[in-house]
Amino acid sequence: MSAGSHGEGEGGRRDFLIISAAAFGGVGAAAMVWPFVDQMNPSADVLALSTTEVDLSAIEPGQTVTITWQKKPVFIRRRTEEEVAAARAVDLGELPDPQTDDERVKDGHAEWLVVLAACTHLGCIPKSDQGEYSGWFCPCHGSHYDTSGRIRKGPAPLNLLVPPYQFVSDTQILIG
Ligand code: FES
Repeated sequence: MSAGSHGEGEGGRRDFLIISAAAFGGVGAAAMVWPFVDQMNPSADVLALSTTEVDLSAIEPGQTVTITWQKKPVFIRRRTEEEVAAARAVDLGELPDPQTDDERVKDGHAEWLVVLAACTHLGCIPKSDQGEYSGWFCPCHGSHYDTSGRIRKGPAPLNLLVPPYQFVSDTQILIG
């Protein structure tokens, strides 16, 4: 075997290794993409759970309950008159994500606040009735939300999100 053919043999092996690695990388990328794309299609059980009806009649003023909608926790708070008044008295200029309290509740149902229970920083579940603004406090990195679920202090950039919902009677809502 000549030195040249030995060199070619090594070159050939190197090429083979590079091609194999590239092919493996390609398979890896395809394998990564498929579950991601597949995940975008809601499964049958998620579609079935896309709306959730909630009976509000047992919730007391000042109480927050957590329900599940589309497998996500949602806070429903029956606010006291004082809490509504406090939320409405806030100067919008003080808010990192300016939104009136009125925009976050349904007409004629100001006592009810419905928000996703996910901190808008990195998604932890905030604690109710805590924090410097008597709303919610996220213990993960210290975000404070007010009685309207609006971000007031800390790293979270946005107010707690209000999911789509409607009142189907005075004591029942349909979320989704
Ligand atoms: S996840 Fe809530 S403050 Fe970071």
